[in-house]
Amino acid sequence: METKPHAPACERNRDPILGVLRAHFADRRRVLEIGSGTGQHAVYFAAAMPWLEWQASDVAGSLPGIRAWLDEARLPNTPPPRELDVRWTDWPGLAADAVFTANSLHIMGPDAVEDFFRGVGRLLAGVPGGTLVAYGPFNYDGRHTSDSNRDFDGWLKARDPASGIRDFEAVDALAARAGLRLLADVAMPANNRCLVWRRPGDPAAGGADPGQRTAAGHARQSGPHTPGADHGS
Ligand SMILES: C[S@@+](CC[C@H](N)C(=O)[O-])C[C@H]1O[C@@H](n2cnc3c(N)ncnc32)[C@H](O)[C@@H]1O
Repeated sequence: METKPHAPACERNRDPILGVLRAHFADRRRVLEIGSGTGQHAVYFAAAMPWLEWQASDVAGSLPGIRAWLDEARLPNTPPPRELDVRWTDWPGLAADAVFTANSLHIMGPDAVEDFFRGVGRLLAGVPGGTLVAYGPFNYDGRHTSDSNRDFDGWLKARDPASGIRDFEAVDALAARAGLRLLADVAMPANNRCLVWRRPGDPAAGGADPGQRTAAGHARQSGPHTPGADHGS
């Protein structure tokens, strides 16, 4: 039997993320999670939001671990995980009206980040209310938002020079090119953010949370600071 992989960070960040997802996925039905990692988020979010079908996905090496979590939980709304490498030119036939990813954009190289947004744009093209939520650390105005994020970025780049914390402005530009408009930028513990994009012209689900910046450009609020990085998986 497969030993379940375990990421302590998922237990720390799942409830703050869930608060954002509950609001912004309230009118969604089928979520594709990209880079599901251990599968812990998939199980937790699918159980907490039973109106959603939660499709976990990741590169091939992660699938056995995700399967172990899903098999144990036996939820009715988590189909078997799908293999998806965002660098693929053609993504497999997936139907979704929302996409979620956590702590993956700083692991992917810059070209893969571009592929991610291109693929998500194609997936959500023509989908009313198509929504993307990305959780993780981001830089603003070319700067790290904390010393712990600077240290984490250095650690990432020493391990893989192509990885690293992404600039919010750069990923927002990629999202715009993919047909998505920033709806909210929500402060999360440990200097992380939840970025929410939605196809323009569609009614937005959920209300404004404290600590949000909207596309109208209100000042970004600092999140509650929790010492220590929370970016591992
Ligand atoms: C730091 S882990 C985060 C895992 C999980 N989302 C979490 O928050 O714990 C980064 C994830 O991104 C995935 N990933 C990296 N490159 C990818 C790619 N090219 N396509 C799809 N997933 C990728 C990894 O396999 C890994 O599961």
